[in-house]
Amino acid sequence: MAQRLSDDFLRLVREKNDIESTIAPYVSLRRSGRNLVGLCPFHGEKTPSFTVYTDQQHYYCYGCGAGGDVITFTKNIQNLSFYDAVKVLAERAGLRMPENYADDGMDKLRRRCLAANREAARFFYECLKSEKGREGLQYLRSRGLDASIISHFGLGFAPNEWDSLKKHLNEKGFRNDELEQFNLVRKSQRGTYYDAFRNRVMFPIINLQGDVIAFGGRVMDDSKPKYLNSSDTVAFRKRQGLFALNFAKNSSEKTLILCEGYMDVISLHRFGFTNAVAGLGTALTEEQANLISRYAEEVYICYDADEAGQKAARRAIESLGKVNVKIKVIRLSGGKDPDEILNKNGVEYMRRLLSGAMNDTEFRLTGAKKGLDLSVNNDKVVYTNAAAEILASIPNPVQRDVYLSAVAEDAGVSRDALSAQVERIRRKKKTKEDHARFDRIVKETVGTTRTPIYPEGVSGGRKNAEERLLSCLLRNPDFCRQVSGEIGPQDFASPLNAKIYSVILEKSETSSPADVHTFSQMLADEEIGYVSYLDASDRVLANTVAECLDCIAKIKSDDSGAQEEDPGKWDNEEFLKQIERIRNEKK
Ligand code: UTP
Ligand code: MN
Repeated sequence: MAQRLSDDFLRLVREKNDIESTIAPYVSLRRSGRNLVGLCPFHGEKTPSFTVYTDQQHYYCYGCGAGGDVITFTKNIQNLSFYDAVKVLAERAGLRMPENYADDGMDKLRRRCLAANREAARFFYECLKSEKGREGLQYLRSRGLDASIISHFGLGFAPNEWDSLKKHLNEKGFRNDELEQFNLVRKSQRGTYYDAFRNRVMFPIINLQGDVIAFGGRVMDDSKPKYLNSSDTVAFRKRQGLFALNFAKNSSEKTLILCEGYMDVISLHRFGFTNAVAGLGTALTEEQANLISRYAEEVYICYDADEAGQKAARRAIESLGKVNVKIKVIRLSGGKDPDEILNKNGVEYMRRLLSGAMNDTEFRLTGAKKGLDLSVNNDKVVYTNAAAEILASIPNPVQRDVYLSAVAEDAGVSRDALSAQVERIRRKKKTKEDHARFDRIVKETVGTTRTPIYPEGVSGGRKNAEERLLSCLLRNPDFCRQVSGEIGPQDFASPLNAKIYSVILEKSETSSPADVHTFSQMLADEEIGYVSYLDASDRVLANTVAECLDCIAKIKSDDSGAQEEDPGKWDNEEFLKQIERIRNEKK
């Protein structure tokens, strides 16, 4: 029987991988009191809520609830399984992985999927070079690709047959039901299996570890759909994927060029713009924007010149606006997309387009003006209103001033009037942001809403007592002996709390009491985030056995549904008092 990775081994891995140096390559951290803070790599934000607790060796993001230890971090940031994350960290620390570990089912399946994809990519590539692939090769040649760029991107050809890939993979030991799950074959109504990609040139999508995670396949004529893409599998999440980031990340540039299509990227690379990437046929997601901001300080949006492309660009700006990256937008001319432009007009032309890129303000103002006639009063008003919104969203005052003058002149309106309108919008926005910030502080300090782990109708006071008790016990496992007689797992309203309590209790009797790390192999990610939160929470008041007993009394006397002391309902004054009390207790 294989075994789980032992606690001792996991502890060693954690000890040898300091959390700060593990996180530092991904997040620029600065000191804040005893802790470190930075912009969260797991969600888009502009003010830091990502906190690293170096003493406890874990992290927690107050913005999105991500949290855990070095292993959780590595797992999530690199999109690995638990086992693979441990492996990466073990290797980094020069530790040998124990043999005979229990590979959890997901890990195995994921590796199996990657193995099938790799074999498929090899098969497609071989086909392209063989007689079967003649038409495919001709097609790629006609689009200007030579042997070296074809092999660089690992392009291939899916033959015009029903089951050539299936047969090949069967021979290599893959079962049809697996291949169906990996999106490589499909099952007909009659129950027979056939290749998902047929008679298409194939573009493998490769992740940052160099694994083939999915495919796009293009027809060679005008039939539809033009591109067929793998849907999500155990090894692939489309929302997070970027085509060619595996190459672009090695580019010396601190910029990325973001375009729409596979062929655009390939042409850009072919002409020396090796920092080009593309989304995978969907609107740019926040996950993708986040990924971009990890590899670039500046991104050039280089979408098609048509209406659809411009609309997609606006949405991309929206996603990218939430993360920390400078945005430039290119207005394409001389062809419909970068691929066509490069082939028709060459590198220099493209370079000029890049250097003439607008920033996002210019792009948005140009968009707002489109279709309007500024000599008509009504249009002038429409434009000025839209422009005022855009101006109000510029954080830098100098920049705002510059564009304010430009817009006033452009629209022929008084600068003072426009400025007053912009200031009004900014004040309104600021009030809204203040409210949001206040809500966040409430959440950080008293912790009212996070993972929805309570049955309906449980009172805020009850939740608070349960969480405070767990926080206290996580920090003081030795209290368990004195309180365990007073409360059992069944007394908790939340099953997750009951589970956490049981683990703390059980571990408290061993030589290694439970901490955040203990849970990383047992709980789901958001649940681990919750444990981190409990551990980091500022809610524990006295940190004594008496406080635990007080919480227990509250839990046991509560017949939930009662609304007393719901922290969500406190008014400001009471909230501030509570903060004051917590602060004093801590001194
Ligand atoms: P385009 O239609 O602009 O194609 O779609 P393209 O990239 O210029 O391709 P070529 O030059 O005709 O070969 C842009 C991107 O949208 C996705 C693909 O990722 C494509 O590269 N797409 C498009 C699909 O996923 N499915 C489709 O049917 C069409
Ligand atoms: Mn194209």
